[in-house]
Amino acid sequence: MILVTGATGNLGKATINSLLGKGMSANNIAALVRDDSKCSEFKSKGIQVRIGDYENFYSLTNAFQGVDKLLLISSSSEITQRFEQHQNVINAAKQVGVNHITYTSFDMKDLRQSIMAGDVKYHADTSDYLKQIAVPYTLLNNTLYADLIPIISGNNIMDNGISIPAGNGKTPFLPITEMAEAIAVVLTTSGHENKEYTIAAEKAFSFGEIADFISEITGTTVVYSQTDVPSYVSQLMLQGVAGDDAAYLSRFAGAISSGEFETNKSDVKQLLGRNPMPLKDFLRSIYGK
Ligand SMILES: NC(=O)c1ccc[n+]([C@@H]2O[C@H](COP(=O)([O-])OP(=O)(O)OC[C@H]3O[C@@H](n4cnc5c(N)ncnc54)[C@H](OP(=O)(O)O)[C@@H]3O)[C@@H](O)[C@H]2O)c1
Repeated sequence: MILVTGATGNLGKATINSLLGKGMSANNIAALVRDDSKCSEFKSKGIQVRIGDYENFYSLTNAFQGVDKLLLISSSSEITQRFEQHQNVINAAKQVGVNHITYTSFDMKDLRQSIMAGDVKYHADTSDYLKQIAVPYTLLNNTLYADLIPIISGNNIMDNGISIPAGNGKTPFLPITEMAEAIAVVLTTSGHENKEYTIAAEKAFSFGEIADFISEITGTTVVYSQTDVPSYVSQLMLQGVAGDDAAYLSRFAGAISSGEFETNKSDVKQLLGRNPMPLKDFLRSIYGK
């Protein structure tokens, strides 16, 4: 039995779909869900629903009964709560005898030295904690989702161009579906005990290059202009992003600008046994309609 936490989220759902796509039977997959009203899709597919909240240790030990492998998808709760929540999940899994824990960490040059260390350090803390626990682990260091590009590039980019304070920094953006596929490989094949993989595209691109791709795809020139941080935050808020989230995204832009995502590592081709979807094809699926 494989249990996926964060099952109602983007990556959790995509991972469960990839597991099903690999022919894994639904009754060997369990979805950790904290909100009963979000269960129906899983139940209709025959997936086992386990109710649990990262904040409630006993709900987790109940939910993890009979689980062989556990995928801990990093929490989306308040940043300050995340490490403690992850410790709860890891401790509960260990207590009930889960055989293998896989954690979705983050691919940056140095999480603790990052200019946004306050936002990402919990990944390093969770990874270190998991390594200390005797249960075999696998760390998956995920880069930024390609799916974020339309959200962080600015409003109506076909008219206004791309506007983000990301300098010429490059990011090896990867679509969520490709990350999920790589995660499903790790969960369904052997030999991943106590290993660490980088889940990122082999090639990183700047927003200038992304603007060029979109121009080629659409036949309309899309320019990339750098904006300053306060203007960027205001622009995101006008798009409907909450103030705190807009400030958080601006810190990602700063980290991109500083080249913090240029780790030049990728294990995705090796895991998938094929080349992952090129960024230009992903952008075509979004902007080429
Ligand atoms: N690499 C990237 O580009 C990137 C981008 C965004 C986020 N992330 C990180 O990667 C994670 C997965 O991304 P995503 O897009 O799938 O996020 P998401 O759609 O926001 O999903 C987060 C999941 O965590 C669950 N969750 C949050 N707090 C919980 C708690 N206390 N107990 C149990 N479950 C809880 C949520 O459950 P509910 O449905 O009940 O809320 C949801 O299923 C995020 O949580 C975040 O840490 C990475």
